Amino acid sequence: MKNINIGLVGFGTIGAGVAKVLLENHEVINARLGVELKLKKIADLDITTDRGVTIPDGILTTDIDQVIGNPGIDIVIELIGGYEPARTFVERALQNRQSVVTANKALLAKHGNELFTTARENGVDFYYEASVGGGIPIIKTMREALAGNNITSVCGILNGTCNYILTKMGDEGADFAAVLKNAQELGYAEADPTFDVEGIDTAHKLAILTSLAFSCPIDFEKIHVEGISDIKPVDFEFAREFGYKIKLLAIAKNEAGCIETRVHPTMIPKEHMLAKIDDVFNAVFVNADALGPSLYYGQGAGMMATASAVVGDLIDIARNLSNSNMRRIPDLGFQDNRITPGNYRPMSEISSQYYLRFSAHDKTSVLSRIAGILGGHEISIASVIQQGGGQGDATAVPIVMQTHIARERNLRAALSEIDQLDIIAAPTAVIRMESDL
Ligand code: HSE
Repeated sequence: MKNINIGLVGFGTIGAGVAKVLLENHEVINARLGVELKLKKIADLDITTDRGVTIPDGILTTDIDQVIGNPGIDIVIELIGGYEPARTFVERALQNRQSVVTANKALLAKHGNELFTTARENGVDFYYEASVGGGIPIIKTMREALAGNNITSVCGILNGTCNYILTKMGDEGADFAAVLKNAQELGYAEADPTFDVEGIDTAHKLAILTSLAFSCPIDFEKIHVEGISDIKPVDFEFAREFGYKIKLLAIAKNEAGCIETRVHPTMIPKEHMLAKIDDVFNAVFVNADALGPSLYYGQGAGMMATASAVVGDLIDIARNLSNSNMRRIPDLGFQDNRITPGNYRPMSEISSQYYLRFSAHDKTSVLSRIAGILGGHEISIASVIQQGGGQGDATAVPIVMQTHIARERNLRAALSEIDQLDIIAAPTAVIRMESDL
């Protein structure tokens, strides 16, 4: 039986999880694979911190060259995260004809296209299952299991930190800052949670899913991104009254060759399957022409769940290596010459229903002035809620409206007029409502 030798770069939480799975599940992996996966080297600058897993002598090293470019290492696992030095290490490994497994969505979103080219030119595999949805096998599903379908849309809850915060805000009426602090204390949110709460981490993952769905190069810049930090507890109360829940949604749709990609807080009907995904869990909802709708649910982060996806990739590549069948699956699941630039719909041209929360002084004619401006921009109102007020204009009161489907461009034009009115005390809060995912 031939050994396949593995080198790991980045011995943090996920790296320790991968080592644990390889060591503890050695028997089952061997039974499935039929060849030995040998963890030969682990490179990190810090090899003294206790990671809770016993590594045999001679494996840990601070010398990156013992992994990258070492002819004795067949597959490199990159778990450093971030752009550099991850990009340089992955590029060098591929150029040295080492296959690579990564969990690094930021790297793929920014440099994925060029790294795929390097992998192709060197005849090696570059797998990235753990980069989207943690342990959920969504990449393999889209590249392989759904290969006979035209995919029409992919929508997901792809960030556990945001989903935890939105779930707690909705359940407990707490405000954003308090729940974020709690999430940090529990270790869910990073010390610097910007990429999570501003939607950037979700957009990195959506950039990858969009390419897998619609055979276009990865293009992070085309994604419209909004985070969750402006959502107020009162928005959850109104969402409940309308029968909706608020989620940070990643949306990619292809309508007659026109692609929409956006990440923003979204109200979805409480009966929709995605509305039931709570706490730190992730889910991806795929519409495909033969299969119809399907949902993939699980742990989107964490040591062992992410390690599960990394080791699944290792086993796939090890099978390709032992059958001399490298690049069995193209990087994005389509033949490379069929990856063509996407035709993207600008955000101003998308259509949606909208939740609008106006902060208005309690004066007569407020409603008619707002409604008049909306009507003048072809925005039709589906329902209105006004609570409180009646004591004159001492304080602003929320007026909440749900619109019928409207064009984003028209909505923005209407709001820029409305927010200038003397009866409006603060910028209007907007949350898109999606009933037809
Ligand atoms: N920080 C991410 C999350 C996990 O909260 O889901 C890694 O992408």
